[in-house]
Amino acid sequence: MRYVPTSCLRPGMILGKNLYSQDGVVLLAKDVQITKEYIDNIQKLLINGVYIEDSVSENIKIEHVISDELRIKAVKSIKHIYNNPKNITKTLEIVENIAKSVIGEILRNKSVMINMIDIKNYDDFLFSHCVNVAVLSSVIGIALNLEDSKLEKLVASAMLHDIGKVFIPKELLTKEELTEEEEKILKSHPEKGYRYIKTYHNSIAVTSYVGILQHHERFDGKGYPDGKKGEKISLFGRILCLCDIYDKLITERPHRKASLPSEAIEYIMAYNGSVFDPKLVKVFLKKVAPYPLGTIIQLSNGQKSIVVENNEDCSLRPIVRILDNQEIVNLTEDWNYRNVTIVSVNNY
Ligand SMILES: [Fe+2]
Repeated sequence: MRYVPTSCLRPGMILGKNLYSQDGVVLLAKDVQITKEYIDNIQKLLINGVYIEDSVSENIKIEHVISDELRIKAVKSIKHIYNNPKNITKTLEIVENIAKSVIGEILRNKSVMINMIDIKNYDDFLFSHCVNVAVLSSVIGIALNLEDSKLEKLVASAMLHDIGKVFIPKELLTKEELTEEEEKILKSHPEKGYRYIKTYHNSIAVTSYVGILQHHERFDGKGYPDGKKGEKISLFGRILCLCDIYDKLITERPHRKASLPSEAIEYIMAYNGSVFDPKLVKVFLKKVAPYPLGTIIQLSNGQKSIVVENNEDCSLRPIVRILDNQEIVNLTEDWNYRNVTIVSVNNY
C-alpha cells in the first residue's frame, strides 16, 4: 500500500483503505477500482490524497497511528467544542475521554515510528489539525516518558490549542495577505484561547492552558504573545509549537501546497534551536518518519525504490526495495550504498 496525492491518481488504481467523509461515512470502500468520476469527486471534496494498493507497493502494510474510528470521533468532538464554545458543560469530559483513547492507542503502538500522511480535506482543516497535533504531542510526550496524567493534560492542551480562533473573525483565518492590524488580531488567538479556558473551564489543568497560551512562542524568544525564551516557555508550549508547525507544513491549504514529510523535517532541522527546542527536535526525528512507508524515492545512483521500513536511529536513510530488481537495501547499513543519497520523492 502507498499514499498517492490526488493530482497523481489514475483510473484503474485500487483503493487501499476506506475513504471517509468528515462525518465518518464511507465515501469509497477499500479495494474499489478508481474511475475518472471518482477522481473528479475526490478533487471536488478537496481531499489531498488516498492510499492505493499496487504491485509496486506489495506487502507494505501501513497502520495509522490511531484508528480511523477514533480519528473520526476525535475530529467530530473537536468540531462540536469549537462550534459551541458557550456550551461548556461537557467540554472537559469529552476532551479527557478522547485524550485517554488517543494515548491508549499510541501506547499500544509504542515502538512504531509514525507515518504521518493524513487524509484530510480543507473544510475540516482546523479540526483535523487539532487531532494531528494531539497525536504528535502524545507521541513526543510518550517518548519523553511523561507520566499518564501529564500526557492527558498535554493532549487536552493540543486539542484545544487553537480554541482562541473561535473568537477571531472567520475571514481572517483563511485570508492570504493580512494587514498589520489584521495580523495583530489573528495573533491574539493564543491569549483569547487561554483567557476563555481559564474563565470557563477552570477545572482544566493550569499546564494545559499555559500550553495554549504559549504555542506560538519560539525557543529564541522571537515568538508571541510574550516573547518568552528557552525553558522559560513551558514544556507543553514547546511541544505544541513543534507539532503545530509540522502538521501545518504537511497540510495542503487553499493558498499553499503541502510540503512532503521529508521537506517538513528539513524545515524543523533548519530551525532547530531558533524556533524549536533542540531536545524535542531530537525526539521528534526519532519518532516521525521523513520518508513514510510506501514513499517512492529516487536514489542518486539512478535507482528508483520504495520505503519498506524506517530506521528509528537514522530516519533519513530508511530500508527500501529497489523497484527494478526487488532487492531490499538498508540505506543506513549497506556498505555499497554508503555514498548513495535520496535525491527526490516521486509519489506518481
Ligand atoms: Fe495557533
